[in-house]
Amino acid sequence: MTGGAGFVGGHVVASLVATGARVRVLDDFSTGSMDNLCHARTLGLADADIRAVDIAALEGQQEIRDWRPSVVVHLAANAAFARSIRDPYLDARINVLGTIGVLAAAASCGAEKVVLASSGGTVYGELPAGAARLAEDAPRTPVSPYGLSKLTADRYAELYRELFGLPHTALALANVYGPGQDPGAGVVAATARAVATGRRPLIYGDGRQTRDFVHVSDVAEAFRRAVNAPPCATVNIGTGIETRIADVVAEVCRCFGVPTTPRYAPERPGEVTRICLDNRRAAELLGWRPTVGLVEGIAGVVDTLRAPEPAGA
Ligand SMILES: NC(=O)c1ccc[n+]([C@@H]2O[C@H](COP(=O)([O-])OP(=O)(O)OC[C@H]3O[C@@H](n4cnc5c(N)ncnc54)[C@H](O)[C@@H]3O)[C@@H](O)[C@H]2O)c1
Repeated sequence: MTGGAGFVGGHVVASLVATGARVRVLDDFSTGSMDNLCHARTLGLADADIRAVDIAALEGQQEIRDWRPSVVVHLAANAAFARSIRDPYLDARINVLGTIGVLAAAASCGAEKVVLASSGGTVYGELPAGAARLAEDAPRTPVSPYGLSKLTADRYAELYRELFGLPHTALALANVYGPGQDPGAGVVAATARAVATGRRPLIYGDGRQTRDFVHVSDVAEAFRRAVNAPPCATVNIGTGIETRIADVVAEVCRCFGVPTTPRYAPERPGEVTRICLDNRRAAELLGWRPTVGLVEGIAGVVDTLRAPEPAGA
């Protein structure tokens, strides 16, 4: 599994190890950390199965060939859309070239299938006016280098299926949030960290932009199911519920018991205004449904950051 030391990856590894799978993690630890693998290690992930390698380099791909896994789960990526704007070259190196290397290695070592993390929040682009959510057959018109690199990775997976008979499932993830997320990586984590450290939360734009927020534990369950199910091309993993950024910020503040007093910064280029995913295919093909509601999920994130009561209080 690539990218297993990341935010999503750590949860996916734990869910696979918990159900008895032997997992080997390939990660260059550029944004990932051993902390994200703590739970998986307590469940039995062996230290020898944690390899620090760059999957965009030949030695990373050789690790896959040597290990000969039956299923390759590919999450390693530049997952930060803002970084893709600053450095589209780096973004494409990891997300496009890295994925081609992983697909080539998987095909050459006879893997049954590849399960990869796509980005439902960015590969489709904007939710058209009047539409409530997007299904997997919607046109794909990304508006950021990150969305384009993730879409290109998906297209390469499709080509590898056509050319080399390597089947895949691409889980098109909505906005993933949950405990352990880097505060630079999502509005729930950023707002919770800001409030926990006594700062005012920051909203880019007017806060009326919408996203589909899916909890990381539900995402990990989707990967576990996809690993064990027949390959099914692209499958959206989202809640189908469209939520305004401003409402998420307000809910985080409410959980901390503080007034909502956000600061505003200009909208960032490359961000969609609205997005929400149709998840009926995931229910049909994977038997997957989201189980954690946003209010409950935010409360969990806030709990992990809330300062402990002073002793004797
Ligand atoms: N978090 C989200 O909201 C979200 C939404 C849609 C899709 N995704 C996708 O899910 C996957 C995981 O995202 P995340 O949020 O956990 O991000 P993350 O940055 O926490 O995880 C990415 C992992 O990949 C590793 N990595 C990066 N470049 C590498 C390289 N060249 N070689 C080996 N390892 C490398 C990093 O060290 C990290 O552990 C990514 O593919 C991302 O595009 C995430």
